Amino acid sequence: MQLVIESDGKRELVETPELKAETSVQIDAFRKDLLVVKDASGEIYAIENYCPHAIQTLTDGEVFGSMIKCKKHGAVFSLVDGRCIGNERIGNLKKYSASVIDGTIIIRL
Ligand code: FES
Repeated sequence: MQLVIESDGKRELVETPELKAETSVQIDAFRKDLLVVKDASGEIYAIENYCPHAIQTLTDGEVFGSMIKCKKHGAVFSLVDGRCIGNERIGNLKKYSASVIDGTIIIRL
């Protein structure tokens, strides 16, 4: 699977294994730790790979439906809008634009 990450008019190409539904892949681009996630319906999301509750990546978080669950304390976030579900005191996920064009995932930082 090919990903193109764009930032300030520059591009980085990243090759990863194909994403299955309800899985994620961690990538580094433009000095950012990113998580690319495919939800149950096949929608692609790009988020900062960081749980806003505490210092923890979401790399091994459980993806279900269109949500991701942090493995450290169980906070659940919507991949659609980044909101923490059920605990407003935990901040939101930082999301980036992600689209699929001719089979290539385009992420804009
Ligand atoms: S670090 Fe993610 S829920 Fe606590």
